[in-house]
Amino acid sequence: MNVLEVDLGTRSYPIYIGAGILEDSGFIQKNIQKHIKGVSTVTVSNRTVAPLYLEKIHSLISPFKNTDIILPDGEQYKTPETLDLIYTQMLEARCDRKTTLLALGGGVVGDVSGFAAASYQRGINFIQIPTTLLAMVDSSVGGKTGVNHPLGKNMIGAFHQPQCVIIDTETLNTLDDRQLSAGIAEIIKYGYINDLEFIDWLDENMSQLLKRNPEALAYAIHRSCKHKADIVAADEKEAGQRALLNLGHTFGHAIETGMGYGNWLHGEAISAGMVMAAELSQKHGWVSESEVASIRALLKKANLPVEPPTDINAEQFSNLMSIDKKVQDGVLHLVLMKSLGESIISSDFDKTALQQVLARA
Ligand code: NAD
Ligand code: GLY
Repeated sequence: MNVLEVDLGTRSYPIYIGAGILEDSGFIQKNIQKHIKGVSTVTVSNRTVAPLYLEKIHSLISPFKNTDIILPDGEQYKTPETLDLIYTQMLEARCDRKTTLLALGGGVVGDVSGFAAASYQRGINFIQIPTTLLAMVDSSVGGKTGVNHPLGKNMIGAFHQPQCVIIDTETLNTLDDRQLSAGIAEIIKYGYINDLEFIDWLDENMSQLLKRNPEALAYAIHRSCKHKADIVAADEKEAGQRALLNLGHTFGHAIETGMGYGNWLHGEAISAGMVMAAELSQKHGWVSESEVASIRALLKKANLPVEPPTDINAEQFSNLMSIDKKVQDGVLHLVLMKSLGESIISSDFDKTALQQVLARA
C-alpha cells in the first residue's frame, strides 16, 4: 500500500493506494475510520457500482449509522436534479453537520456527491472512494466538485476537499475496456503537461496497462496522483498553474456538451481535445508535425479517439468553447504546448489559427 499526501496545510489529506485495501479490515480500522468524525455516514453510489462494491463498504463502516443513496448511472445525471435527490434523502435520514459522506464510484458520483457534501448544511466531511481509472488518477483528488448545466459542462460547483481518498486498484477488474482507455487519456495528459519521461514509459507500457497488469496500473496511478497532488498543493483554487490540468479540456468539454452528455466519454473527449490543442500549438511553431503525429499515435495506442466528432461545425464549436471556466473577463484562455512536454496557459494565441483547427475538425 502506498500513501501520498495532498499538502494543503490544516486541510491536508492522504491518498491511500493499494490492491484489495477495501477488503483489509485492519487497514481500514487503522487508517480510514479516523477520518469519520461523527457517528453517522451516508454512502452515495450508483446502480452499476453499488451491486459490486457497496457490501464491502458496509462491512468497513459497520460501527457507524449508515444511509445508502443510489443514483442512476451516467453523465446525463450529473445534474442539479440529482443533487436535489441526494439532499432530500439526507434530510429524510436526518443527516446532520457531523455526518460523513462516502462517494463510491466514478467521477460522476464523486463530482455530484462531493458537491452535495460541499453544500449540505453549508458543508460536511466527505471521503472519495474512486472505482474508475479516471476517478483514481484525476477527479477524486483536488476537491473540484459540481454538476453540469445544459449550456456547459461543470458550470455549477465548489472546491471542497475530501478527508481522504481510498484507491483500491482491484475495483478496476470490473471496469470495461472503453472506460479503462478513457482513464488512460487523463494519465497521458500528465505527461504532456510536464513529464516527457512518463510519456516514454507510457509508450513502452501501454499494452501492459490495457492488459491491466497490476504493477503497471499501480505505477501509472501513483505517478498521476503525485502530479495532481503537487499541482493542487501549489494552486488549490486554480489561480494559475492548476489550469494546466485542463490540457485538452476546453475543446473536450465543447465535445461533451455539443454531443449530449454521456455520448462521448469524458476521457475520449479529452483525447480528441489534446490533439486539437497540439494542432493549434503546431500552427504557432511550438511543436512539430512529427511531434503531433507522436501524440496521435500514443492516444491511438490507448484505443482513444484522435479526431473530434464531425457533427459539430466550427461555429458551434466556437460557441460551446465560449462557455468555459477558462473564459475570464470575456477572454478565452487555452492550455497549449509550448514544446512537447511543456504546456502553458495562454490567451495570446492566434485566433485565426484556432478557427482553422476548428474548421478542420
Ligand atoms: P463515470 O463516473 O460515468 O463512470 C464510468 C462508468 O463506469 C459508469 O457507468 C460507472 O457506473 C461505471 N463504473 C464505475 N466504476 C466501476 C467499476 N469498478 N466496475 C464497473 N463499472 C464501473 O465516469 P468517469 O470517467 O469515472 O468520470 C467522468 C466524470 O468525471 C466527468 O463528469 C468529468 O467531468 C469528471 N471529472 C472531474 C474531475 C475533477 O477534478 N473533479 C476531473 C476529471 C473528470
Ligand atoms: N481535472 C482538473 C482539475 O482538477 O483541476
